[in-house]
Amino acid sequence: VLGLGTAAFGRRLTRRQKLRLLEHALDLGITYFDTAPLYGRGGAEGVVGAFAAPRRDRIGLATKLGLEWRGGRLRRQVVRAFEPDGARRRLEESLRKLRTDHVDVLLLHEPTQGDVGDDLLAFLAEAVGQGLARAVGVAGGPLLGPLAARPPVTPWVAQASVTVLESLPPGAFVVCHSAIVSARSGKARRAPAEALRRALAANPRGIVLFSTTDHDHLRANAAVPSD
Ligand SMILES: NC(=O)c1ccc[n+]([C@@H]2O[C@H](COP(=O)([O-])OP(=O)(O)OC[C@H]3O[C@@H](n4cnc5c(N)ncnc54)[C@H](OP(=O)(O)O)[C@@H]3O)[C@@H](O)[C@H]2O)c1
Repeated sequence: VLGLGTAAFGRRLTRRQKLRLLEHALDLGITYFDTAPLYGRGGAEGVVGAFAAPRRDRIGLATKLGLEWRGGRLRRQVVRAFEPDGARRRLEESLRKLRTDHVDVLLLHEPTQGDVGDDLLAFLAEAVGQGLARAVGVAGGPLLGPLAARPPVTPWVAQASVTVLESLPPGAFVVCHSAIVSARSGKARRAPAEALRRALAANPRGIVLFSTTDHDHLRANAAVPSD
């Protein structure tokens, strides 16, 4: 029910430190890992792949399609890459980096209306049909709710901030994130463990992601009971 995200796998940690965190998470019983071509300035998938390869059958892997990092030493450059023509090549590149022949979840990364047409949805269906992805869906953005309400492909996953959980249709399979960060602000500030506990209670059939760069935080988060 708890998964570890890798959006924070940037320059602050060495490759070795990232691998240790992933291994520690698995030792603590966390078996679902969320990554993306964008994360870690394009480097997160490769680290997750090195971790996953010797134990692929024991873990769930999610990656994304649509947002990419393009070089640039001085500026952060995020490029939108949703063209259906390039989708297969992009997924194959993710699979190569992840050192696997399939991902458990493939998510369109914060797409807008103009990004998602019939061709891209047909590609997602094909990816499931060919066993390249066990499930597909959308991570964030304005299409999250509408597509979760009428999934164009099954199995469908909605990956959403905990703050919009209530707006999603009751039957949707939800991977939720931002439990800890969203509990830091506003009137009702909550400690990380309490924020995760509440997110698990609000999303009892799905997965709750968190991220950390700290082993003590990892240990504390992994110990949060799901009611
Ligand atoms: N569009 C999308 O699909 C999308 C959007 C956002 C996030 N995500 C996914 O969700 C993952 C998690 O992101 P999130 O937004 O949900 O972050 P989060 O887990 O809500 O917050 C992470 C922050 O909380 C801190 N933290 C974690 N555990 C803590 C603890 N026990 N005590 C004190 N501080 C603690 C971390 O700092 P330390 O490193 O110091 O622990 C970090 O600053 C991402 O890595 C990504 O995989 C996806």
